[in-house]
Amino acid sequence: MKLTDAQMQFVEDLLNKMTLEEKVGQLNQDSPSIVGGFDVPFEELIEMLTDGRISQEEFGKIMATAERDFHEDDIRAGMVGAVMGNDPVKANELQKIAVEETRLGIPLLMGFDVIHGLRSVFPIAIAEAGSFDDDLMERTAQMAAKESRAYGINWNFAPMLDVARDSRWGRVSEGPGEDPFLASRFARAKIKGLQTNNEATDSYVAACTKHYVAYSACEAGRDYNTTTMSTSQLYNVYLPTFKAAMEEGACSAMASFNDLNGVPCTVNSYTLRDILKGELGLKGFVVSDANGIRECVTHGIAEDDVDAGIQALNAGLDMDMGTRIFYNHIAQAVKDGKVSMETLDDAVRRILSVKVWLGLFENPYVPQDVIDAYSKALPAEHVALCEEAAEKSIVLLKNEDKLLPLDKSAKVTVVGELADRADEVVGAWSLAWEKDDCVSIKAGLEAAGVSFEYYPVCGPEGDLNADELKAAIESDSDIVIAVVGEYTSMSGEASSKADITLPGHQQEMLKKLVAAGKKVVSVLMNGRPLALGWEAEKLPAIIEGWHLGIQMGTAITKVLFGDVNPSGKLASTFSSVNGQEPLYYNHPNTGRPGSKSKFTSKYLDAPIEPCFPFGYGLSYTTFEYSDLKLSETKDDVVANFTLKNTGDVAGAEIAQLYMQDVTASLVRPVRELKAYERVQLNPGEEKQLTLSLRKCDMGFYNNAGKYVCEDGLYRIYVGGNSRDTLEAEIRVQFK
Ligand code: BGC
Repeated sequence: MKLTDAQMQFVEDLLNKMTLEEKVGQLNQDSPSIVGGFDVPFEELIEMLTDGRISQEEFGKIMATAERDFHEDDIRAGMVGAVMGNDPVKANELQKIAVEETRLGIPLLMGFDVIHGLRSVFPIAIAEAGSFDDDLMERTAQMAAKESRAYGINWNFAPMLDVARDSRWGRVSEGPGEDPFLASRFARAKIKGLQTNNEATDSYVAACTKHYVAYSACEAGRDYNTTTMSTSQLYNVYLPTFKAAMEEGACSAMASFNDLNGVPCTVNSYTLRDILKGELGLKGFVVSDANGIRECVTHGIAEDDVDAGIQALNAGLDMDMGTRIFYNHIAQAVKDGKVSMETLDDAVRRILSVKVWLGLFENPYVPQDVIDAYSKALPAEHVALCEEAAEKSIVLLKNEDKLLPLDKSAKVTVVGELADRADEVVGAWSLAWEKDDCVSIKAGLEAAGVSFEYYPVCGPEGDLNADELKAAIESDSDIVIAVVGEYTSMSGEASSKADITLPGHQQEMLKKLVAAGKKVVSVLMNGRPLALGWEAEKLPAIIEGWHLGIQMGTAITKVLFGDVNPSGKLASTFSSVNGQEPLYYNHPNTGRPGSKSKFTSKYLDAPIEPCFPFGYGLSYTTFEYSDLKLSETKDDVVANFTLKNTGDVAGAEIAQLYMQDVTASLVRPVRELKAYERVQLNPGEEKQLTLSLRKCDMGFYNNAGKYVCEDGLYRIYVGGNSRDTLEAEIRVQFK
């Protein structure tokens, strides 16, 4: 986000005209409240949902039938800076009040969670990161931005940049996986895609990077839980994605719910003022997460709402999402001298700057022709991009005896309730999909003309239908395609799980099919890495399909029958059993790395190795790496090697380079991803490849938060995943 001198002057002039109340109004992100239609006040309804008296489904029904109060009078009084929503007609109405009926005509930010597409739902982030295709990540973000603007949204609560190492945490689905390097490339691509305008009508949005910071390090994977870590870990693992996003000019950030080393991130001046606004140079503003300011009272760090609001604003939090604490208390706090006018002005300046950068003062409304265009069928280019993203995100985990791809004449039986759930392809945080756009796996197979018998048998919850299982077993088929996994609601916010094996009776179904001698191809639909020990051992073929978005069925069908050769890789390590979590490839070395010997770092009753390592994914062809040679230029360490397609079909491989700092002043990871490239090769074709590693990227942050590059021995690994690699060593001197 860069403003011209004239734009900066415009912001200053506006600020000078504002009353104290109008300034406070800009810090208020209002949520529409619900009126009428039910007997209890809205606050109690939320409590009933939170304490389990009503289910999510019942709550959803009430909300869908309730009327919304958008607080038009408050908008008119200049007391609202931002709202949430995805209805362009309503957005235009509210924007009109803000622009035409307030004293200063300041337009509204319209925020919404567009995490992996809006109506065009792309794969969930953990899946898309596995495409290792930065250009794709940017294009999907660009399309999401274009659709957002058409829906009246100008501020996306995305990208979610939490590097996540514990698959019990439900929100692993929303982010780009466990590796800071891959996740930082994802961050850059997303900021470019969201914040660049490539169309005649404004089609860019302000990104909101989240959740700042270390939210994913919640203890034991329990959402909202406490986080404790060293400065070095914070800087090396959890900050790089935000650093990358700020370097690309991200407009805003959302403070996370968790406390970090005892200080909630909502009121944490070290992470907000010193690091985010200071070192990382955020030019825009910080918003709390929903209800985050009030939760500082529950954290036990603030006495009441007033105290929480004052602490938050003073710590560098600029906008209040949803509690109205700033709205209710900050004007008085300024009068009482508890918040300085300078602090308030800084927050308002940041928010106004984003509005100016978005062009909202010139073009606050969604043009009617744009609204009309989106009330029709989804344009073909949107569908095509959804399909491309889904295809590139599919990971082939196992393919014994080349069982896949299937022959189109094979006799096929399909089992699993999820195969026929068009509404389950979208994944967590999909809020504007339309059922007619969604292609289930069953529908994908039908559209491709595959003839098959289908028995749902069971899903992630509920009973197993013994009759259907019997019919599937007795069916005259060569292959059983078993679509198994998780419902969308089983990952995302507040969806931590202690058991991350296949839920419900799905494994039992698979066991019975295998016991009956069926060849089972398992297609997984899931939002988190599952513990797949049994499946990896007993099933001949496994496709990781994640929640791939609206074109899931089309993409999976093409992979099953070989029209598309899978090329995705895992952006996260997969465990064999639950108790291995958190499990991640770039862990620090110990003095006793796990081995056969008893007195080493391991479990007595579970493997120490992952079921599938980070970066892993097969293809219908095979790739061979050879001739790794390292050399050095003034600025780079350069790895040259040969990559050959040794199979008989064309395919894409993601060549990966890892580094280990063998001796350092702090214990460093056993290996760290430092470069990758997607390479397309024909059968028999080989290429000489070069992956370079900038010397300035070979360092790490120490416990003073200082970046250091240390002379010494470095080991470089090159291969198709984080485990199976060639290796070579090089001594590097940095000065
Ligand atoms: C989530 C955020 C989200 C916000 C607004 C919160 O509960 O943690 O990720 O952006 O709600 O929907």
